[in-house]
Amino acid sequence: MLMCGIVGYIGKRPAFPILFSGLKRLEYRGYDSFGFFVFNPEKDFLLKKVGKISDLQGDFSNVSGEIGIAHTRWATTGEVNEENTHPHYDCQKNIFVVHNGIIENYKELKEKLISEGHKFSSGTDTEVLAHLIEKHSQSHNKIEEAVSLALREVRGTYGVVVFSKKDPQKIVAAKLGSPLILGINGNEFLVASDPSAIVSHTRQVITLDDNEIAVLSPDKFFILKEKPIEKIDWETEEAQKQGFPNFMLKEIFEIPEAIEKSITGRMILEEGLAKLGGLEQALGKLKNIKKITLVGCGTARHAALVGEYMLEEYAKIPTKVEIASEFRYKNSILDDQTAVLAISQSGETADTLEAIKESKRKGSIILGLVNTVGSSIARETDAGVYCRIGPEIGVAATKSFISQLSILTLITVGLGRQREMSLVVGRKILENLQQLPELAKKTLNQSEQVKELAKKYSGYRNFFFIGRKYNAPIALEGALKLKEIAWKIHAEGLAAGELKHGQIALIDEGFPTICICPSDSVYEKMKNAMEEIKARQGKIIAIATEGNEEIKDLADDVIYIPKTLEMLTPILVTIPLHLFAAYLGMELGLDIDKPRNLAKSVTVE
Ligand code: F6R
Repeated sequence: MLMCGIVGYIGKRPAFPILFSGLKRLEYRGYDSFGFFVFNPEKDFLLKKVGKISDLQGDFSNVSGEIGIAHTRWATTGEVNEENTHPHYDCQKNIFVVHNGIIENYKELKEKLISEGHKFSSGTDTEVLAHLIEKHSQSHNKIEEAVSLALREVRGTYGVVVFSKKDPQKIVAAKLGSPLILGINGNEFLVASDPSAIVSHTRQVITLDDNEIAVLSPDKFFILKEKPIEKIDWETEEAQKQGFPNFMLKEIFEIPEAIEKSITGRMILEEGLAKLGGLEQALGKLKNIKKITLVGCGTARHAALVGEYMLEEYAKIPTKVEIASEFRYKNSILDDQTAVLAISQSGETADTLEAIKESKRKGSIILGLVNTVGSSIARETDAGVYCRIGPEIGVAATKSFISQLSILTLITVGLGRQREMSLVVGRKILENLQQLPELAKKTLNQSEQVKELAKKYSGYRNFFFIGRKYNAPIALEGALKLKEIAWKIHAEGLAAGELKHGQIALIDEGFPTICICPSDSVYEKMKNAMEEIKARQGKIIAIATEGNEEIKDLADDVIYIPKTLEMLTPILVTIPLHLFAAYLGMELGLDIDKPRNLAKSVTVE
């Protein structure tokens, strides 16, 4: 299991309510099934259920015990059923394990353990860990020693939390490649796969490093290596919906604030300069780079594609975007004059992480554009910029995408001003960027109109999204978001000029197209594509610039965005597209925060 949520507690308070609320916060990481184990010498509590924790009914007030572990699962190895739900246990039901990651050699280990007499009750890779620990417990009384020996036998990745009734005043946490964080709150301790399960109890955290094992007892803890205690500044209420029906809408409405947070303090307007503290140490090297490779997945890759247009047009640096999952399989030509910039909201996406590890081997400068502080990608890079937008809970990337675009603008100015970009151009870009929070608010004022459109078009099952130049990647993003969130609908995004080379065959009155056509350098060309669609009775929803009245003759419906610089239009155009996906998903009665088959952090390759 990899994209899942883990939470563990040991202290003086009843563990169940703490595990329950922690797991609810982590549910966005996976919601196929969930499970708890709470230790009580009189009567243990073990619960495994298929479905979402938010649907759990019942009275749990009699669950007592001050030590427990819990897990929410996004299935990778083994189908979705109760047997495969964590916690997993050994033959005697003494050792309980929750795990994120993949044990790659689980089949051989399982065969060997079965031949030694172990009885398995699930089809998961994780259960192997429980039996391996059981085996080593026979010769080692301390559970941490048995865990350490067991982990030496496995190949793969793990964030694992273990409890043993044979050494019951402890929980043990270990990590390799899958994040785990300890929360320290006086004489109680928490462990979780991400800070959102911990922040309502304590801001004192330790991020475990690979190969570290932490041992938590009711009043003390130790790790094999000394780690500094960091302070995280996420607000607990940031993880609440604040009156919105779901996190996705809440996060779209946070876009103006997300732009603000991404750019504040990072511009020197009068000098037309970007001031990105995280990149300062690399500035000398960046001055000499000859090319940039941007890597990311899904929505983060769409941000990279916009970045490619920005960097080539304004910083004049040859730029290439690679799909992170393909990166390792190409012989990418990299050297010490190439900067590789990894873009990732979670900072834990395995494909992106592997891409930068590969680039490191080739001697490139590794940069990150990441939201989650202290995440694996953030720690793997030489220098980087944080989004600073707080947690994004909805599975769909929304405000993080906008933050990435805003910061790519700053990076473009930063690198451009090291080269040929003039003061005047640098200043103009930054002045326009500074106005964007206001313009984004204005764009959001049309949310009711977008909602009406979603209602009007909810009967259609296919959509095209088209755009050109800076908005060609936004066509991809609009389509991805629609099929991800309103997954009963199929959508395809493409560069508008491509339509006539094939896809136009599909256009008729039952196949609408969303045309991104702000008044920019490619507007006239966009109009050509729209004419072609109209000539084939295709319905058109246009995203156009305020004041453009002629577009009404071509389009069936129009959503307006305020005027801004061409390179910044993607930021405004995305807002109605994300809203459209959200409202259409809601209109179809879908859970838009947890679309089927998806998970927030994709830590499997
Ligand atoms: C789409 C979406 C995904 C992510 C992708 C990368 O709404 O959320 O496509 O953008 O999985 O995730 P990060 O940015 O965490 O690396």
